[in-house]
Amino acid sequence: MADELLREILETATYAPSAHGMQPWRFVVVDSQGTRSALGTALTGQMRADMQAENAPETEIRERVERSLRRMSEAPQIILLCRDAEAQRAQHPAEEQMGMQSVAMAGLQLMLAAHAHGLGTVWICWPLYAGAETRHALNLPASWQPQGMILLGHPAEEPREKKLKPFDEVTIFASLS
Ligand SMILES: Cc1cc2nc3c(=O)[nH]c(=O)nc-3n(C[C@H](O)[C@H](O)[C@H](O)COP(=O)(O)O)c2cc1C
Repeated sequence: MADELLREILETATYAPSAHGMQPWRFVVVDSQGTRSALGTALTGQMRADMQAENAPETEIRERVERSLRRMSEAPQIILLCRDAEAQRAQHPAEEQMGMQSVAMAGLQLMLAAHAHGLGTVWICWPLYAGAETRHALNLPASWQPQGMILLGHPAEEPREKKLKPFDEVTIFASLS
């Protein structure tokens, strides 16, 4: 992916709204084969440990790990999304949550910017399960908390039509008198 395009998409993401304007998002562009493979090893190592702890059969573990590594190796671009725990105004669970919400907003903005350029994206939650391992594998600052990663590239196929929950199931008009 062209550097200028990637930069433009990332810069667009930084215009997302954030709680107190703290801009807690941090992006890690996985920029080399070595980084990609270190990230893959960290994520699937934890995945394997979690599945073993749940007594999942070895064949299932191996399949999942192989599928995950394949997805990561096939993705043209991987961007890890982190929250900087230092970009928080006060130590309160609500403040922490606001930081996470802000990072998610930047993530969606990144996805929309990519879409506007004809790229496809998917948000992957695995780094949430392996925060410390990811931070260690990529040598990230201690306060950067991995929240997810976005795979992006030119889509190989049309996405399936989305089956949405009925509008009335997800919305109420609360009009108390
Ligand atoms: C917070 C979050 C975590 C997700 N984690 C994963 C994931 O780990 N693996 C994956 O394949 N998709 C993941 N997704 C993508 C969703 O599965 C996907 O958005 C959903 O299936 C709906 O598909 P659509 O966005 O194409 O409509 C995640 C999406 C969100 C918002």
